[in-house]
Amino acid sequence: MVQVTTPRPPDTGNRRWLVTGCCGFIGTNFVRMLLADPQGPAILNLDCLTYAGRRENLAEFESNPRYHFSLGDIGNAEAVETAFASFRPHAVVHFAAESHVDRSIGDASQFIHTNVGGTQILLDAARRHSVERFLQVSTDEVYGSLGPTGSFREDSPMAPNSPYAASKAGGDLLARAAGKTHGLPVIITRGSNNYGPYQFPEKLIPLAIANASADRTIPLYGTGLNVRNWIHVEDHCRGIVAALERGEPGRVYNLGGADEVANLDLLEQLLSIMGKSTTLIRRVADRPGHDMRYSLDSTRAHQELGWRPRIRLSEGMAATVEWYQRNAAWLEKAHDTSFQDYYRQQYESRLAGEGKPVTAKA
Ligand code: NAD
Ligand code: TYD
Repeated sequence: MVQVTTPRPPDTGNRRWLVTGCCGFIGTNFVRMLLADPQGPAILNLDCLTYAGRRENLAEFESNPRYHFSLGDIGNAEAVETAFASFRPHAVVHFAAESHVDRSIGDASQFIHTNVGGTQILLDAARRHSVERFLQVSTDEVYGSLGPTGSFREDSPMAPNSPYAASKAGGDLLARAAGKTHGLPVIITRGSNNYGPYQFPEKLIPLAIANASADRTIPLYGTGLNVRNWIHVEDHCRGIVAALERGEPGRVYNLGGADEVANLDLLEQLLSIMGKSTTLIRRVADRPGHDMRYSLDSTRAHQELGWRPRIRLSEGMAATVEWYQRNAAWLEKAHDTSFQDYYRQQYESRLAGEGKPVTAKA
């Protein structure tokens, strides 16, 4: 049973944004960016603190009158109503989600609860409370997988391949329907693969940094030729603000990074930055349904929002390595017993079966 805490009274005079899931990776970076701007809004962070949420990521701001934390599950209509009624937000930015593809393959139920059911509960509350903007934070994974050429545009068909991607597509369609049917001013952003500080080490880049730092092997799925379109989390967060402030209700905006890299090349670059040997990379059994390539065409965001990514992968990855090295205690804490159980379950048989060092491309 999730405990619901009542938020402190809102600031008067400021804009108020209810932001879900800010104790996770992107939400933490988003709040830090907004609070660094003296003209920024007051924020209510509604988060139920799953394994991926850490309240201490933002604890230093709990005495800041512009930041409020409320412990609550977006799948619980009562908790959501309490948050809206007490904070009276002008806008909603919806990050909260189950976000890891591999976990969705094992059990999709929590993905449906949060990414589909929770999104509908938020949309209903936003409508009841007449919010001026609802921004659904989504992903390029809703479009499915590409061959060697081309990029997804906002009018590309949705063809999700993993339970995670399907649950995000479900949330996007419900958000669209709330706009069409009820006139809720909904904007959807679809970001590409994010990296940067505070990312939970189940995802490729922080997992590789953590393992390489301890001279542990790094599991590479399948051929390692799968391509991801990487975006630094700060660029993504700036794009979300641009879409919220300058986007048109009813519209979707792709927010893609400037770099498209195969996983094997990415790991080689990362290990070179860290001064570690590529013999740490182990090719292991592939992820079922593994999407081959993502690439976003973000022309609409460039033209209509005046947004472009600024941080190239080589620069962003070096800064990210440095952040994890400076924050070894943060990483250590993420490696608790439940993560170790997850890691064993996810990787032990894969590593035992095929764990040969990768010395050349497949
Ligand atoms: P994350 O897993 O790091 O964090 C998710 C946060 O949501 C956590 O704080 C968690 O406690 C909270 N949460 C989960 N279920 C909740 C519930 N039922 N009620 C309240 N809070 C709940 O995720 P992230 O990587 O920061 O992703 C944030 C959003 O951005 C997600 O919607 C994701 O689909 C989207 N996105 C992520 C990426 C990426 O590369 N990480 C790319 C594009 C879009
Ligand atoms: P991930 O960080 O899980 O993001 P997503 O699945 O949302 O793209 O994975 C990024 C890529 O790295 C993806 O192609 C799967 C691959 N991968 C590995 O090769 N090994 C790993 O241990 C993980 C977690 C991912």
